[in-house]
Amino acid sequence: MKRHLISAGDLTRDDALLVLDTAEELARVSERSIKKLPTLRGRTVVNLFYEDSTRTRISFEAAAKRLSADVINFSAKGSSVSKGESLKDTALTLEAMGADAVVIRHGASGAPHRLATWVRGSVVNAGDGTHEHPTQALLDAFSMRRRMGRIDGLKVSIVGDVLHSRVARSNVLLLHALGAEVTVVAPPTLLPVSVDTWPCQVSYDIDAILPKSDVVMMLRVQLERMNAAYFPSAREYSRRYGLDRERFARLHDDAIVMHPGPMNRGMEISAEVADSPRSTIVEQVANGVTVRMAVLYLLLSGSEPAIGGDL
Ligand code: CP
Repeated sequence: MKRHLISAGDLTRDDALLVLDTAEELARVSERSIKKLPTLRGRTVVNLFYEDSTRTRISFEAAAKRLSADVINFSAKGSSVSKGESLKDTALTLEAMGADAVVIRHGASGAPHRLATWVRGSVVNAGDGTHEHPTQALLDAFSMRRRMGRIDGLKVSIVGDVLHSRVARSNVLLLHALGAEVTVVAPPTLLPVSVDTWPCQVSYDIDAILPKSDVVMMLRVQLERMNAAYFPSAREYSRRYGLDRERFARLHDDAIVMHPGPMNRGMEISAEVADSPRSTIVEQVANGVTVRMAVLYLLLSGSEPAIGGDL
């Protein structure tokens, strides 16, 4: 693996499989009463969050702690960022405190890439603007493989606000590398111009795509990033693109439903579908800890003894 994880495109197929297989081993530790491993003792992981997060921030913290790393949690709110301190100066301050890895979430696409030029430690992208969220894609792939037994050849449909979604881009890149056939489904107004260059099919018609899908990944409508009218109303969006009971009934019996969270229940997904046994939404959160443990382990432990030695 490379020193940083900034894009899902940084991962070769073998890198991605190594993360998923390592996470599978680490999942066994998570089932124990004592979940901690000494693997990253003496290492420091900084969680640098400029945007709100529940799942990603908490799971990176849990992952680092389960590997015995020292963890520093930095939230832009309440820090010297409010006095105008730049990302570079903040990064250099954290570097001076001995960060071996910096996990960054930032509203600006490209911020983790810039950060990687300023710090000596590994940089992990925990979501940058509308660009990428590679560890979300890894945990989604891990969850998919656990439920379906494979990724290669799966028909995966990613539905909704693709335009503002860093999850969609990372998933398309990773799932394509792992052999899935990916289709993104959205109204034309919620697709980026660059989607033609992505390794996936594009559709505007959810009802045509659902019966052919093994996995349906619903995306949150990111109202907070919308500075224009992308659809007539929430009700109209839900009617045209929401996964409700009627649409769910058109999926084949083994198909699963995913969502990265947080959800707009009743908009892109109905509560009934979100809470169904064929939804992986809660599993995705639990799997986020083990997958992020695997990422931190592989980035920070390098050529140290195989993980199996600690298990
Ligand atoms: N899926 C995801 O990134 O969730 P958070 O914004 O809560 O971290």
